[in-house]
Amino acid sequence: MARYEATVSAPVNIACIKYWGKRNTALILPTNSSLSVTLSQDHLRSTTTSSTSQEYEQGDRLWLNGREEEISKGGRTEVCLAALRQWRREVEDKDSAAPKMSEWPLRIASYNNFPTAAGLASSASGLAALVYSISQLYQLPQTPSQLSLIARQGSGSACRSLFGGFVAWEMGERDDGADSLAVQVADRDHWPEIHALICVVSDAKKGTSSTSGMQKTVATSTLLQHRIKHVVPPRMTEISRAITAKDFTTFARLTMADSNSFHAVCLDTSPPIFYLNDVSRAIISVIEELNRAALASGAGLVAAYTFDAGPNAVIYALEKDMPMIVQTINEFFPQSLDFPDPFGVLAQPSARPE
Ligand code: PMV
Repeated sequence: MARYEATVSAPVNIACIKYWGKRNTALILPTNSSLSVTLSQDHLRSTTTSSTSQEYEQGDRLWLNGREEEISKGGRTEVCLAALRQWRREVEDKDSAAPKMSEWPLRIASYNNFPTAAGLASSASGLAALVYSISQLYQLPQTPSQLSLIARQGSGSACRSLFGGFVAWEMGERDDGADSLAVQVADRDHWPEIHALICVVSDAKKGTSSTSGMQKTVATSTLLQHRIKHVVPPRMTEISRAITAKDFTTFARLTMADSNSFHAVCLDTSPPIFYLNDVSRAIISVIEELNRAALASGAGLVAAYTFDAGPNAVIYALEKDMPMIVQTINEFFPQSLDFPDPFGVLAQPSARPE
């Protein structure tokens, strides 16, 4: 009896304009649009193999980094699998010769080549790889933007990892979420000079998950209302323009401002959420100082820091400036000071999931 299999890898994406807050928790509809850079496959990626066969025992099964995880009833993975099966059913209805895979159990094994849930966006690459691998297994005709509607329901930021390069997640307006999807703003080849330095300040699991953190922020922060109404919408337009124009100074200014705005709403949450630690704040000071010196000498900004729901820094810089940035970071934060090895991982934006 036939067995079908598909393996794909999806990279991590790191947001420049942050998603923080859901207006609908079941469908994962965000309170604001966001924009990210998808990193290269080389360093931070999830690789997922999905298979299906009529012979498999009943029930879908999932392994993460070699350990079996329960697929809970009504949980996010199950929601994604149900939606993918529905699209497969449409393929089978149109083509009577297509195997009835939608009725068969699935086996899914996923590996991250980096620490899980440490503020390095593992859920983004993991859910994107899961959705993309099953779409390949099922030979679905849907576009990456359409697939992003399903990945979004697995983990919000995962929808952006279905594209390489520079990607926007448009929040949409509809209550059913049909217009809350990812679109590519520019592909990697448009601006390959941008590189990312990932500073692993801590690879421990984060204290407050993004899911619970966001809910607390939505429920208690008044600053969030200002951010989603007045701060993010103009930034989305401005940063898209900066990417199109390859204007690094504007890109860097907006990226740093938005990271700080996101951590400000975390602090404005009750009880407050602290994702940054002393090392994170020291990295901010070093980059601010490098930029101050660059501006004073008449040049543009040389680097942009950004932090997700954890203390690890991602520093964006142009390739020509990256050796100086790496050297400066290594001088201020020598690896002998208890940093995991390697402290920094250089990554380039990637083309797309493979
Ligand atoms: O998709 P989630 O639930 O892992 O949330 C991600 C939130 C941030 O990483 C902090 C910001 C973002 O836009 O990726």
